[in-house]
Amino acid sequence: MAKKLFVRTYGCQMNVYDSARMADVLAPLGYAPADTPEAADMVILNTCHIREKASEKTFSELGRLNLLKQERRAAGADMTIAVAGCVAQAEGSEILARAPYVDIVVGPQSYHQLPELVARVARAGGRALATDFPVEPKFDHLPEDGAAPGPQAFLSVQEGCDKFCTFCVVPYTRGAEYSRPVAAIVAEAERLVRRGAIEITLLGQNVNAFHGEGPDGTSWGLGRLIWRLAEIDGIERLRYTTSHPADLDDALIEAHRDVPQLMPFLHLPVQSGSNRILSAMNRRHTAIDYLNLIDRLRRARPDIALSSDFIVGFPGETEADVAATLDLAERVGFAQAYSFKYSPRPGTPAASMENQVREDEKATRLDRLHEVLERQQLAFNRQSVGRTLDVLVERPGRKPGQLIGRTPYLQAIHFDGPSRLIGRTLAVEVDSAYGISLGGRAALAAEAAA
Ligand code: 5AD
Ligand code: SF4
Repeated sequence: MAKKLFVRTYGCQMNVYDSARMADVLAPLGYAPADTPEAADMVILNTCHIREKASEKTFSELGRLNLLKQERRAAGADMTIAVAGCVAQAEGSEILARAPYVDIVVGPQSYHQLPELVARVARAGGRALATDFPVEPKFDHLPEDGAAPGPQAFLSVQEGCDKFCTFCVVPYTRGAEYSRPVAAIVAEAERLVRRGAIEITLLGQNVNAFHGEGPDGTSWGLGRLIWRLAEIDGIERLRYTTSHPADLDDALIEAHRDVPQLMPFLHLPVQSGSNRILSAMNRRHTAIDYLNLIDRLRRARPDIALSSDFIVGFPGETEADVAATLDLAERVGFAQAYSFKYSPRPGTPAASMENQVREDEKATRLDRLHEVLERQQLAFNRQSVGRTLDVLVERPGRKPGQLIGRTPYLQAIHFDGPSRLIGRTLAVEVDSAYGISLGGRAALAAEAAA
């Protein structure tokens, strides 16, 4: 049954943009836009914290929504109330405490988790708070447009983390690792395919620690799960994110070699290239371990594109440590990567370590790393020029007649073509490369057959 979503947006353009992304991310769950909160099954307040009294404004708006919620309940329906944006981020627990009728509090870095949060509230009847520091770079996970339910779908298979990297709040906020049973995942994947998905990205905070119960009662790893999902008719592409190097087992590497649907792309955060820092981070791997893994992956799947997360300015990080990180990046040659300045999270071990690095020093180090990573991304994109790649067409582009899709290597590519190609894969010849995207021409045979 169609459900209705109303998003009220406060503040800057960023919030306007984010509100659209939240609607997109919920569309695959069956939410269509409502014109008024009165008509909505779910209302999201996307709040702004830039001026004073923002939270008081939020609470009075919430009070009004609660009256609507009570009316709907009296009429036998319900209303899910979510608070998003910067007030949610800053005052999440206070909102839950003061406004017991609020179901979901979600911080700006966590919108991609909304489907999971909504599902959890519906399943368990509980409430959900997601206001952590970016547990995953959210743009990895947000659909880029509202053409949903689109060809590209997300499926959460794992939650939580037991790794306790010393900088990270996830193990505290998300708790212990939990893997969904294989049967539930397969059923959800089949539903997604029936609704038009041809690419599925498996999600988890530490997705390759997946150890779900298989139909045979034994514990299945991610590699085996991928084999099973690849058997589903209609799934053309599989991806997964985010992984930990210490959990990348042989079966998963073999899946990269043997499962054609598994795309040649891997986001494998390394965080640092210095063994001293990796150890202080409690990462459970060295720089050499990481490089060896990359070698094995490349032997299994020579064209695999690699992505990563880096943190600069971890407590005690010296110039030599930065050099080691830059060196590791040079050795790998990433197709893309995210880098962050270390940010002390209250309650994590690293936050109380001595030798915190000065902010301006962190910024300089970030610039230096960015420069290397941007150069690598451009080089990676440039070597695609002249090749013909399978592109999953996701949505219309900005210019009329233009389409945007993704290559197997997760590069965005734009090219001209009719909108009926959206939701299909077709061959596109790459003719230009930019910092974060490609341009190309749809191959004529595919166009004629369309
Ligand atoms: N400071 C900076 N970056 C962090 N990340 C996680 N916690 C922190 C923190 N305290 C980064 C890591 C992780 C990504 C999702 O966010 O690089 O892989
Ligand atoms: Fe955080 Fe480390 Fe777990 Fe990733 S593996 S979620 S960085 S504790």
